Amino acid sequence: MTVRTLHLLGSPVLRQHAAPVARVDDAVRQLVDDLFETMRAAKGVGLAANQIGVARRVAVVDIGEEDPPPLVLINPVIVERGDELETAEEGCLSIPEIFGDVERHARVVVEALDRDGKKFRAEAQAYKARAIQHEIDHLDGILFLAHLSAVKRSLLLAKWKKARKGQTGYLKEVTPEPAGEL
Ligand code: NI
Repeated sequence: MTVRTLHLLGSPVLRQHAAPVARVDDAVRQLVDDLFETMRAAKGVGLAANQIGVARRVAVVDIGEEDPPPLVLINPVIVERGDELETAEEGCLSIPEIFGDVERHARVVVEALDRDGKKFRAEAQAYKARAIQHEIDHLDGILFLAHLSAVKRSLLLAKWKKARKGQTGYLKEVTPEPAGEL
């Protein structure tokens, strides 16, 4: 397993619609393991392949539950969305130190392939449902900023640009980050 370099806001791969995985082979399993390793090193609760520069439909979610175990999401599709919406603050490992309130479905049912290529269906609520929606958004090239009002988004973008002043490039070697970012 390898801790991979994170791609930050501005990296074109974050805007790409990731391609489906045709077959879950050793290379895909390696990608899954690297996603977990990188997410944990960065103290995140989810990570999508785009965020390590790979535009394939693979993501992981680990909100710290022991049972059920962390989620591996290969070619995930949300097949059910509860009517209830919930607003909560979100962050993203690709946009460090930037947070905004995002409205999400409080309950979703997701279908995906697991690390063995086996299809499964999982229901999630609250924070876990939020993390799943956030990661699947990444696979569609969508960042949480897209869910904010134009005013809020431009405020946060200005804050981001100010914080990034003098820094070039959109790659970040992983060093410990505050917990709780998706
Ligand atoms: Ni994110």
